[in-house]
Amino acid sequence: MISKVIGVIGTGNMGGAIIDGLMSKGIISPDNLLLTNRDIDKANRYYDKYKTPVMGAEEVIERSDIILIAVKPKDIDSLIPIFKKYSNKVLISVLAGITIDYFRNNLDAEIQVARAMPNIPSTISKGVISISYSENTSGESRDVIDNIFSSIGEVYHVEERLINISTGLSGSSPAYMFLIIDAIAKVGIDYGMDRSTAFDMVIDTMIGSAMFMREYSQIEADTLVSKVTSPGGTTIEGLRVLNEKNILDGISSTIKTVIEKSFSMERKD
Ligand SMILES: NC(=O)c1ccc[n+]([C@@H]2O[C@H](COP(=O)([O-])OP(=O)(O)OC[C@H]3O[C@@H](n4cnc5c(N)ncnc54)[C@H](OP(=O)(O)O)[C@@H]3O)[C@@H](O)[C@H]2O)c1
Repeated sequence: MISKVIGVIGTGNMGGAIIDGLMSKGIISPDNLLLTNRDIDKANRYYDKYKTPVMGAEEVIERSDIILIAVKPKDIDSLIPIFKKYSNKVLISVLAGITIDYFRNNLDAEIQVARAMPNIPSTISKGVISISYSENTSGESRDVIDNIFSSIGEVYHVEERLINISTGLSGSSPAYMFLIIDAIAKVGIDYGMDRSTAFDMVIDTMIGSAMFMREYSQIEADTLVSKVTSPGGTTIEGLRVLNEKNILDGISSTIKTVIEKSFSMERKD
């Protein structure tokens, strides 16, 4: 059970996912989870659901030990003057492109900051969350923050320079995975399968293949592929087209582009 008071600024998709995660796992008392949002009605929905107190941003910051910032990156500058008044708080930022140095440069060089990169499956508690801590973050703060994010998925600790790599591997990549599932399922539909059977079949295959790959994680992908192929068979014929169309190079280039874009968007000031 988390005994610290946690404040959430921004109860949109990601802030809401974390509130739902914390409440559904019962790891914090609703009284210790203080919420605010620009459109306060959006925060009040969580009060109606969980009885988590809702108040203005300054009151949340003043009364919380640890503050989760879940606004869009463009909205962070307007909150800095309020944070400046309370320099002893521990911050968690899920803001894409906003570095730990941004908070140290704009607030206090000694502030404890966790920079986290969750992904969209976090909203159904199946997320991947990369976390990087400022080196002065205390062990106690790290434990609480790990606990918060464990409520919405699997936590990976990375050095801050790798957060942009995580953006490519787990942050943006669900978009491409959705499209790959969609493309495969639509072929089934074109050949006469009903929509829900086609999608369920491909989704179950994606989940099963991922779990199979984890089970045999020490085996190279090529060897796993050889378990599905036989000379003159169907899979090998499909692989020929996959290679002819350079699909795998295209996927690598896509992820590299995401990573480069993440680096180019980073803000330190
Ligand atoms: N969604 C994802 O998959 C994902 C993944 C990784 C990281 N993130 C990061 O998570 C952050 C939030 O993304 P999101 O998708 O949750 O966005 P969102 O749904 O738009 O939520 C942002 C919320 O912040 C509120 N807000 C803005 N300025 C505020 C202020 N000054 N005080 C209080 N509340 C304020 C907004 O309120 P109003 O509605 O009233 O404007 C909105 O409810 C972003 O920085 C993004 O980079 C998101």
